[in-house]
Amino acid sequence: MKEINIDLAKDKYSIYIERGLIDNISYFIKGINRGKKIALIIDENVDNLYGCKIRTHLIDNGFSVKTISIRGGEGSKSLRILDSIYRKLLDFNITRGDLIIVMGGGVAGDVGGFAAATYLRGMDFIHIPTTLLAQIDSSIGGKVAVNLPEGKNLVGSFYQPKGVFIDPNLLCTLDTREFNNGMAEAIKYACIADKNLFHQLLMLSKEEIDREIEDIIFTCCNIKGKIVMEDEKDRGNRMLLNFGHTIGHVIEKYFNYEKYTHGEAIAIGMYNITLKSEIAGYTKEGITHQIKEVLEKFGLPYRLPDMDRGEILKTLALDKKSKGNNIDIILIKDIGEGIIKNLSRKIFFKEFFPHKTKSGGAI
Ligand SMILES: NC(=O)c1ccc[n+]([C@@H]2O[C@H](COP(=O)([O-])OP(=O)(O)OC[C@H]3O[C@@H](n4cnc5c(N)ncnc54)[C@H](O)[C@@H]3O)[C@@H](O)[C@H]2O)c1
Ligand SMILES: [Zn+2]
Repeated sequence: MKEINIDLAKDKYSIYIERGLIDNISYFIKGINRGKKIALIIDENVDNLYGCKIRTHLIDNGFSVKTISIRGGEGSKSLRILDSIYRKLLDFNITRGDLIIVMGGGVAGDVGGFAAATYLRGMDFIHIPTTLLAQIDSSIGGKVAVNLPEGKNLVGSFYQPKGVFIDPNLLCTLDTREFNNGMAEAIKYACIADKNLFHQLLMLSKEEIDREIEDIIFTCCNIKGKIVMEDEKDRGNRMLLNFGHTIGHVIEKYFNYEKYTHGEAIAIGMYNITLKSEIAGYTKEGITHQIKEVLEKFGLPYRLPDMDRGEILKTLALDKKSKGNNIDIILIKDIGEGIIKNLSRKIFFKEFFPHKTKSGGAI
């Protein structure tokens, strides 16, 4: 089993990675929490696939379990769903000594994690991430949040789990689009911090990727863990993790979180920010092409869709990375070398969202 220790100012926990890990989850839980009750906040599809197995295992190990099932998809990161989770926790009479398990993709992780962060002023919780995106990204680092109609993740907190339990076997039921959605984040890590990973992702066949997935997850978690340990509250280097995300968030919001997955939106973001940055001379020549190659390999889009500039500006004004009239943009100098650049929002808008081209919006 692979283990990564996350050591933060106030919290310490481990990320465990192993095929078949959820079959022994009680053993780990008993080392983390002494409670008898477990609220299992679980994605509905994951519940259908694995709920019975994990519940039986927990009950056989002496726990009393209440399942709180929530739909996958961005729509569940809402105040309404949060409210329904609180009420179910209340019905279950769960106490601060008990445990919440959050099992699912980034959506279940974000809303379930925020419920754990706030219910009874904060309860112990663990993550069992089930999408590739959640296994390499959203379950690590303690960011938990829900959306408002005006924008993504506008209500949230930094709240660390007591452990993250990654079972790569759970990915076998994930469809290709969702797998590739997570791959976009792996490509992001490779771009900002790991040239070898980038070449691995570019060169390995699909079958080899499947075979190596445990190591790829480990590499990604290590990169994120290291950055989070340096900058828990996202004030410095952690911003590197936002490579491709400023444009990505605008695209997701513009199309109502329906047309593009998070990974697809950031894929477009990574490609387009690098294209502009290469033209401006911040990025080594030829890098944009390499990014395009790896994105295409995983069926990820790269062309900027046609969007209304006024709407984009409104969304950018709400972006958490905006500071007054300026915005921090993450660029890469070379593969594996991310940098943070502070630009005026006006310049960013003009350079990165230019008026529609004759070819129909792609830059
Ligand atoms: N907190 C963070 O640091 C952070 C980082 C990155 C992304 N996020 C958030 O993560 C969210 C996206 O997460 P996501 O892409 O995992 O989406 P998701 O949680 O909606 O899951 C995608 C789909 O996969 C299904 N699914 C999950 N696990 C499965 C499995 N093992 N087998 C079959 N189907 C399965 C779900 O039911 C859902 O339909 C976004 O809201 C994003 O903002 C958060
Ligand atoms: Zn992301």
